[in-house]
Amino acid sequence: MTATFGRGVRIAGTGRAVPAQVLTNKDLEKLVDTSDEWIVQRTGIRARHKANEHETVFSLGRDALLQALQASGVNPADLDMVIVATVSGEMLCPSTAARISEAVGADDAAVFDIAAACSGFLYALNMADTMIRCGRAERIAIVGVEVLTRLVDWDDRTVSIIFGDGAGAAVVVADPDPSRGCIHQTMHGDGRMWRTLYHPRNEREVPPADAANPIRLGHLRMHGREIYKFAVTRFQEAIKDALDRTGLGVDDVQHYICHQSNQRIIESAVEKLSLPPERVYVNIDRYGNTSAASIPICLDELCRAGRIEPGKPIILVAFGAGVTWASCVWNA
Ligand code: UT7
Repeated sequence: MTATFGRGVRIAGTGRAVPAQVLTNKDLEKLVDTSDEWIVQRTGIRARHKANEHETVFSLGRDALLQALQASGVNPADLDMVIVATVSGEMLCPSTAARISEAVGADDAAVFDIAAACSGFLYALNMADTMIRCGRAERIAIVGVEVLTRLVDWDDRTVSIIFGDGAGAAVVVADPDPSRGCIHQTMHGDGRMWRTLYHPRNEREVPPADAANPIRLGHLRMHGREIYKFAVTRFQEAIKDALDRTGLGVDDVQHYICHQSNQRIIESAVEKLSLPPERVYVNIDRYGNTSAASIPICLDELCRAGRIEPGKPIILVAFGAGVTWASCVWNA
């Protein structure tokens, strides 16, 4: 296919799916040594969804994508690519994207997963925009999905209170207006910090510095404070850089969609950069941190509420394990 740079990209439809069971902070008080007050004050989380044995990364991702396809009017057989951002897929091989594509009828699509943790959906959105903009694809489905509650050690109160399960999806398509879609994007990583959040399956995968700490193999291990400090700085830098590079003022942006990891991290960016708080979307109180699903769930809630105005920019930022971080200024 010939490269075609004179065109833009549009979000044609979005969707989301979350498990039926809701786990409140009060429920958690019965499982770990914590309190509703501590969790709300330190994170902003009040409840999260938790998958049962039948709800999986595959099933939630499929349901979110089916909704997005229906909203978009795109025929699944016409999809060029299905990208799934996840670090909690049930099967290492094949990709979750392969199984989801079969389930939705995307029979002629390239399929692959992205393991960039909480930044995964933004990595995928940025890549999809680039592929479409340069004429390598016309229609791409992106899914962000996690079932992290299965990887949580329920005796570890710093990890178990944070994560929730869910999926969000978007179908992005070529648009004749080149000003639409991603007008600025960044993707970063710093592998030297992978030890701040990881999932060891055997003792060889436990770094020496953690060897003395009690850690259950097969569960997530997180150094929350270190990630917190890193995230506060990166969020602020990423939003400021996005504004500076595009020449946008804080009031020109219709929505700031930040990865929902901790409300205090988002609030520190609002304060430091004087962002209008009413334009900074927050739903962490209802979902917790759903990692790769957090941004597409926000996006879908805004789309379905009719709150995305065409022609106006949105700033999206995320950070996660790896460590990874990414940003995107999306002209709706
Ligand atoms: O999406 C990317 C993945 N991860 C993140 O984004 C996580 C980023 N980090 C955070 O959100 C925060 O660091 C946490 C919410 C994980 C922890 O909050 P914090 O304010 O950084 O607490 P801390 O780890 O510094 O602990 C402060 C105190 C400690 O007690 P002492 O030593 O001061 O007596 C902890 O033992 O709070 C205690 N603590 C708790 N108490 C009640 C830690 N977790 C809990 C808990 N309930 N769940």
